[in-house]
Order: sequence, then structure tokens, then C-alpha cells
Amino acid sequence: MRAVVVVGTQWGDEGKGKVTDYLAEQADMIVRYQGGANAGHTVVFKGQEYKLHLVPSGIFHPGKICVLAGGMVIDPVELCGELDELEKQGHDIAGLRVSYTAHLVLPYHKLLDGAEEVQRGANKIGTTQRGIGPAYVDKYARTGLRIVDLFDEAGLREKLKGLIDAKNRVLECVYGVKPISMNEVMSGLQRAAVRLKPFVCDASRLINEYIDAGRKVLLEGAQGTMLDIDHGTYPYVTASNPTAGGACTGSGIGPTKIKSVVGVVKAYSTRVGDGPLLTELKDETGVFIRERGHEYGATTGRPRRVGWLDLVIVKYASRVNGLTSLALTKLDTLAGLETVKVCIAYKKGSERLSDISFNLGEYGEYEPCYVEMKGWDESITVARSYDELPKEVREYIRLIENVTGTQVSLVSVGRDRGSTFALADVFA
Ligand code: IMP
Repeated sequence: MRAVVVVGTQWGDEGKGKVTDYLAEQADMIVRYQGGANAGHTVVFKGQEYKLHLVPSGIFHPGKICVLAGGMVIDPVELCGELDELEKQGHDIAGLRVSYTAHLVLPYHKLLDGAEEVQRGANKIGTTQRGIGPAYVDKYARTGLRIVDLFDEAGLREKLKGLIDAKNRVLECVYGVKPISMNEVMSGLQRAAVRLKPFVCDASRLINEYIDAGRKVLLEGAQGTMLDIDHGTYPYVTASNPTAGGACTGSGIGPTKIKSVVGVVKAYSTRVGDGPLLTELKDETGVFIRERGHEYGATTGRPRRVGWLDLVIVKYASRVNGLTSLALTKLDTLAGLETVKVCIAYKKGSERLSDISFNLGEYGEYEPCYVEMKGWDESITVARSYDELPKEVREYIRLIENVTGTQVSLVSVGRDRGSTFALADVFA
């Protein structure tokens, strides 16, 4: 059976963790294909909240295989910490697999991430400071180290010696940052090598075997379409490809092995970090949505910028990901608002525009064109089927489907695992 991909259609934080958790119940394998500990997936079940940064949320379903694929950049020390925490909470981690070819995020990447942001000053990207950009820079400069390198200590020391010397020169001379020592780096890596050894594998081979055997494989993107290095609001993006194409390169499968692509859409917009957000709400409605939706970064704790739903963005995401359906989340957060607005186009002077601009400078002249709709009440949180949704919500869903030309297959109306229901079977 061909794989299902789950991607974010906006700026990340759409609720992919919750959607993946819901779909993981039916899946045999869950794969993360890009990014690293910049992601933060929140899952709530049995009244408890869990936050994951590297491990796919499928780990909460015993017996599933959860793969950290080769397209990821992994901080091995952080991964060990996450595994320790999961075990402490009583979760079984035997299903974890880590690709030999994933790149390592090392302490100097994090120092560089911080120093480069300071250097950018007013033009900062607002990164999560997890070393993601610098680790991908090394990957493409072909000076990166990979998970496989952890298991050849002599070779690792040799490679690290030259790298640490070079990075320290940049840290000290360019940024005036204290250098790091070989011992600092090596001690963390030696411990991680022992801890991670039972989990490492040829992930591409394993994923292909599962697909070829007719098993259900879910490929989970982190971040979102507008943070994609190629298709997002460059340079205010992450350093990898969260979009569906990245699922192939990141996990080592061919495009012919993908069956469907589910785009996760939050009922409104949020963005953490800098860059354009045309529908941003800087008033009390924005504060209401931020507080009701717990819109604070799962990784950094930063308050997220909040705005009305922008369907120009979701339509664009539908195109660049080849979405086959949408998963709509956090509709409950908007409950209690008298009216809700949805952006369906932009205008620049008297000109009406139905697509995004690649010249970020132009956004200063753009204004959103809104459709204003009647809001809905709290009764939404008890709905467990489309027919139980208030009429206003059904109209909201229909508008999204009409403007984007993509059908909604999943709806989430609350924080808990049980508050998601399907309108269509994405594995069928
Ligand atoms: P980086 O990925 O840490 O390099 O950050 C680059 C941009 O992506 C910044 O605007 C971050 O705030 C944003 N970003 C990275 N990961 C996430 C995420 O998981 N959710 C939302 N925004 C993210």
C-alpha cells in the first residue's frame, strides 16, 4: 500500500502532531522526513500533555515503528534526553528507528545559530536556535557528520578535530563567541552512540519494505509549507523541505510510492518568528485567539503571532504539495467570536490578486480581502461527526473547500485525542 504524507499548509504549528497521532492509530509505521528539534509536537491524551521535538508522535501507540529518516538533522544528545523522558513516563520506545544517514546537530551548530541571528540584527529570521540552519549548511557544504559516524570513534575524532578548529575560528574571530572543546563535544557523542546503537538502521530500505509489503506508512512533515526553503517566504524559512516532495528525498522512497497528501490547516493563522503574515491581528481578537488556542511555541515558548485564516496561502499549499485532502484543526478555538473573517484574495490598490508574491517587499502594499462569516458557539467541542457541527462551521468548511478546491477529510474540535473525526478515509 502506498504511503500517506501529512504536511503543514501554513507556518507550522497547524496541529500536525495531533493529526499524525490520530492517523497513527491506523498506520504500521510513522516517519519523520526533515527538520530536527526545531519542531514541537503537542499531543494530549488521558488528561496529560506530551511535547515531542524529534520522535514522531506515533510513539504513543505501542507496537508502531517510528522512523527518524535520513532527511532529518538530529541532535543526538537531545534525542537521548527525549527517549529518557519517554521511558520515564512509561512509554515503550522499542519501535524507534534512526537512519544512519541523518545528519548530526552538534554544539557548534547551536552556537552559530545564535551568533548568526545576533549578526542579522533587525533582519533576523527568528530561528528556534536549535542549530538547524547551520547543520543543513554543513550537510550541503559536505562537511557534515552523520549518525553513522557515531559508530567509528577514531574516525569521528579525526573528522571532528578539523571541524572544531574551523568552527572555533569562526566563532571566536567573526562572532566573538567562546570556543568549544573536543572533550565537550565527544563526551556527549560517546554516550549517544551507546544509547542509540539498538535503533539505527538503513531507514530507506525499511520504509520501502513496509510499503512493498502492503503495510500502512505515514510520512510526517515538520514545520509548514510557508517555512519551506524552496517554496516558503524566503529568507524567513527553515533550512529544509517540509513540502511533500521532501517526503521522498527525506525518507528515501520514490514518488510512485506516495498515495495521498493530507494538508493540515489550522482554522486561523499563526506564525512564530519573523516574516510576512498579512492577516495578522494585533488587537484584542488576536489576544483572545492566542490565549484560547495556547499559541505559544512548543519549542521556544515564544508567543505566536496570530491572524485570520488566509486561504490564498492554503490554496498555494494545495498546489505545491499536490494535496489530496485537508485536515482542519482548532475550530474550537474560534468558538465564542461573533464574527470570523477568512482571507480569500489580496488587493494592491485597485488590483485584486489571487496568489502569493515572491517579492516580500510587496507585502507592505498588499491588503487582505475578507469574507466575513457568522461565528459559532462552544457546542462545537462535543461534535463527533460533520452533521453534529453547528451550521456556521459547516459553512466555514465549505468555504475552505470551495476556495482551495480541496476536500476536508479530517476535523478536529478540541485538544484531546478523542476530539478528531474523519469525513473520509485517507488510507483507502
Ligand atoms: P529554524 O528552523 O530554527 O532555523 O527557524 C527558521 C524559521 O522557522 C523561524 O521563523 C522559526 O520560528 C520557524 N520554525 C522552525 N520550526 C518551527 C516549527 O516547528 N513550528 C513553527 N515555526 C517553526
